Amino acid sequence: MNYLPNSQRYQNMEYRRCGKSGLKLPAVSLGLWHNFGAIDNLENARNILRLAFDNGITHFDLANNYGPPPGSAEETFGRIFKDDFKRYRDELIISTKAGWPMWDGPYGDLGSKKYLVASLDQSLQRMGLDYVDIFYHHRPDPETPLEETMAALDLIVKQGKALYVGISSYSPSETAQAAEILKNLGTPCLIHQPKYSMFDRWVEDGLLDVLEDKGMGCIPFSPLAQGLLTNKYLKGIPEGSRAANHRGNGAIEEDQITDDKIAKVGKLNELALKRGQNLAQMALSWILKDKRITSVLIGVSKPEQVTDSLRCLENLSFTQDELQLINSILAE
Ligand SMILES: NC(=O)c1ccc[n+]([C@@H]2O[C@H](COP(=O)([O-])OP(=O)(O)OC[C@H]3O[C@@H](n4cnc5c(N)ncnc54)[C@H](OP(=O)(O)O)[C@@H]3O)[C@@H](O)[C@H]2O)c1
Repeated sequence: MNYLPNSQRYQNMEYRRCGKSGLKLPAVSLGLWHNFGAIDNLENARNILRLAFDNGITHFDLANNYGPPPGSAEETFGRIFKDDFKRYRDELIISTKAGWPMWDGPYGDLGSKKYLVASLDQSLQRMGLDYVDIFYHHRPDPETPLEETMAALDLIVKQGKALYVGISSYSPSETAQAAEILKNLGTPCLIHQPKYSMFDRWVEDGLLDVLEDKGMGCIPFSPLAQGLLTNKYLKGIPEGSRAANHRGNGAIEEDQITDDKIAKVGKLNELALKRGQNLAQMALSWILKDKRITSVLIGVSKPEQVTDSLRCLENLSFTQDELQLINSILAE
């Protein structure tokens, strides 16, 4: 059980400054949305986390509701943290979030101060941590005044329960307002976590400009469109893949893997091979080519996918012709 991390772990990873903050994040970070629940294999989860850290992935991203059941990914992480990573706490950036339904009644969802403060206390307990490095509001709440949600984030930092705060899936204008409120409270908004991949490019329509303007970092989630931007679905839906698992809660489903998408994936795959990459690697490189991106937040179901995806770092530049070809394939 004794885990000794790879002594060369900082050799090959690139660390990027998060907006205008003092914090750097690895260009590739690991999320625990899937494959770390109570129903998943603990040793697989442990092997994934060890291999990630061995390769310089210092940032692990969680949320109160990851599982299933909700909360169990934080418990799995807490167990592995206690066994393997406790000694390395100061080498790790651990994040969690609240904003989606978590417990019954009016105080376990959305963006009230009541929910956020209580939820972080629960998350810290499940993970066995004194503090998290980044605490996020997980999604905008149209009913709670933004001032209240941001005051909750500010309070959490002042209490020492999080070092930094961020927001997820906020629109460009909500982001600008949130950043302004937090700045006035004396707690800068560190980072935004948006969905971004070749198949979902909404951040290019204003959000990235706002983040640059506000000095915030950006850590896109689902950069592989949950596995669609790999070669795995080219010949149908393999057993054990996320689309075959039917876990719900926003996980990719078979009906999202359309003929039209697969035709595009096939063409993107050909281009990737010409660049000396596989499609997963090219899809990650394509996001990281933009210097406003701090880190790509990947998910994996097996340790080999960590090693495979990390090879995106070997080729982060694209020619104009390659970029144009990608745009035309996506526009078809
Ligand atoms: N803020 C939010 O609202 C929000 C929402 C969603 C996610 N997130 C965060 O973002 C993280 C990543 O999201 P995601 O898991 O959807 O990301 P993703 O990287 O787009 O998809 C991960 C899936 O892609 C497949 N995959 C990964 N690497 C591969 C490789 N090299 N070759 C072939 N297949 C590969 C695996 O699918 P199989 O399981 O089929 O093998 C894996 O489970 C989450 O864990 C979470 O931390 C945040």
